Amino acid sequence: MEAKRKVFSGVQPTGNMHIGNYLGAFRNWVKLQDEYDTIYCVVDLHALTQPIEPDVLHAQRLDAAKVLLAVGIDPRKSLFYLQSQVPQHAELSWILGTLTPTGVLNRMTSYKDKVARGIPANVGLYAYPVLMAADILLHRCDLVPVGDDQRQHLEMTRDLAERFNNRYGEVFPLPDALIPPTSARVMSLAEPTAKMSKSDPNPRSRILITDSPDDIRKKIKSAVTDSDPDVRYDWEEKPGISNLLEIMADCTGRTIDDLVAEYGSGGYGRFKEAAAEAVVAELAPVRTRFKELDDAEVARLMQKGALDARTQAEGYQQEVRKAVGLNAV
Ligand code: TYM
Repeated sequence: MEAKRKVFSGVQPTGNMHIGNYLGAFRNWVKLQDEYDTIYCVVDLHALTQPIEPDVLHAQRLDAAKVLLAVGIDPRKSLFYLQSQVPQHAELSWILGTLTPTGVLNRMTSYKDKVARGIPANVGLYAYPVLMAADILLHRCDLVPVGDDQRQHLEMTRDLAERFNNRYGEVFPLPDALIPPTSARVMSLAEPTAKMSKSDPNPRSRILITDSPDDIRKKIKSAVTDSDPDVRYDWEEKPGISNLLEIMADCTGRTIDDLVAEYGSGGYGRFKEAAAEAVVAELAPVRTRFKELDDAEVARLMQKGALDARTQAEGYQQEVRKAVGLNAV
C-alpha cells in the first residue's frame, strides 16, 4: 500500500485565536485528518520571538492546545504536540539557518511588518521563517494547510529544502502550501482592508473562536461596512460586506451567489443578523467542547504527543546529521 501523504501545520500560542485562524486553517486541519498522516503543533518557540511574559506564554500554549482539541483535532488521528518539547525543531532550524542567505530573510514581509509595528528586531524574529521551514521539513511533510499570509514562508521553505538537497543529497520532499479557496484571508471587522489578527489592539476587530454568542452578535453588528445598503460581493467597493459574505458562506456551506440572492436588497441589518447567527451556530459547539476540557488531561495528552513526536523526529534527524557530517563518532 502506498504511504499516506504527510501534512504539517502549526499555530503560535499568542492568544486571541479567531475565526480567521479557524476558517483559514484549523477547520481544514480537522478535515485532513481522515485522509492524510497529519501532524499539528503549537509552535511555542515561535511565540518567544515577540516580548511575552513567561506565565502568559505558559498559560496560552495550553489554551491553544485546548482550542485545537475543541475544534476537532483528534490525538488518536494526528500527532499533536508543543514544539518546544521536541528539541529537534531547534536543531534543524540551526542547520537550515546555515544555508539561508540573509538577503532572503531581508525580503520577508512578515518580519518587515512586525518591525514597522514596533516589535523589537531580534535575531529570533528575523530567523523566524527558518524555524518554520524546520518545523515542516523535520517530519518530511508534503502538504501544509495555512492561510494566505503564510505563502511567502512556504516558498522559502521549498527553497531551503532544495538548497539542502542540492548541497547534501536528496533528503527533503518539497512541501506544497494548501490554501483554502475562500477565507484564506479573513479581514478585520473594524478595518476590512486589513487582515484579522490576534495582535490587533482592538478586540472588536476579531471574533474569537471561544466568544459567547452575544459577543459574536455584537461584534458582527458593529462590523465596519459602507453606507450603500446593497449586499454585494465586491472587494473593491465593499470589503466589509464581502468579508462577512465569505465568513457566512463558509459557516453555512452555502455559496456567495446564493446568499447575495437572498440578502442582496434586504438591507445590512437583516444580513448582519443572519451572518451572526451562522457564526454562532458554527462556533457554539466548539465553545462547549472547549469548556469541557480538563487542563490536566490536556497536559497529559500533549506530553504523550511530544514523546511520539520526539521518537519520530529523532529518526529523521539522524539522516540530516549524517548528511551534513554530524553523525555519531
Ligand atoms: P498563526 O499562528 O499566525 O496562524 C495560524 C494559522 O491561521 C492562519 N491565519 C489566517 N487565515 C485566514 N485569515 C486570517 N485573518 C488569518 N490569520 C491567521 C495562518 O495562515 C495560519 O495558517 N507562522 C505561522 C505558524 C507556524 C507554522 C509553521 C505554520 C510556525 N511553523 C509550520 C505552518 C507550518 C503563524 O504565525 O501562524
